[in-house]
Amino acid sequence: MSQDTPAQVSAFVSSIQGRFITFEGIDGAGKTSHLNAMEAQLRAAGLDVVRTREPGGTPLAEKLRESVLHDSMDPLTESLLVFAARRDHLVRVIEPALARGAWVLCDRFTDATFAYQGGGRGFDQGVLQTLEQWVQAGRQPELTFLFDLPPETAAQRLAAARSPDRFESEDRAFFERVRAGYLARQQAMPERFALIDASRTPDEVGEQVHGALLSRGWVRA
Ligand code: TYD
Repeated sequence: MSQDTPAQVSAFVSSIQGRFITFEGIDGAGKTSHLNAMEAQLRAAGLDVVRTREPGGTPLAEKLRESVLHDSMDPLTESLLVFAARRDHLVRVIEPALARGAWVLCDRFTDATFAYQGGGRGFDQGVLQTLEQWVQAGRQPELTFLFDLPPETAAQRLAAARSPDRFESEDRAFFERVRAGYLARQQAMPERFALIDASRTPDEVGEQVHGALLSRGWVRA
């Protein structure tokens, strides 16, 4: 690294190993700005970073995303489409990136399916678990940031946002179920999750995100 590298950036160069990190939370939790910051820091440190999202991340999966976000469908169809998109994304983008040692930063992954289709829509968790096994063949993120906050706070943040999609236009009770679905996943697999209090200020949330990387030894203080 050159000597003029900012301190917070050089903190990331201690690792050359690829990582699979996902970012989750109800709509309006503010995860995207923290994802942007981490992506910028990792890239500035010279690491191979793949920034991607679900549903999406490949041409086919982006087409499926359009349907999932805007077309009316039943919860099984919705679940099959998000897992079909996930399969294409894993095979074409995520697995090759991890195999070459890249850091994959993914805006939502399977925890969103358990939270939105399982929690929000009330769809059968057993079917989702079966699809998860078929599609992922054991692949899981190494670290998942769960940006948790009350739905009423998230709704206030979203109020100024663009026109809502099929999920964003759901009511408060739906997002209470989504939040509970996320927290159930976090409680079932606590070692994979960093639970972030997303109701705090952006700086405080950023500190929590950094602290989770520090505690894993993935960055230096
Ligand atoms: P989101 O990731 O929030 O993108 P944007 O910032 O552009 O709104 O939107 C994706 C939506 O898709 C979000 O409301 C959650 C939903 N979703 C599911 O219902 N199931 C899933 O498996 C995934 C990945 C997302």
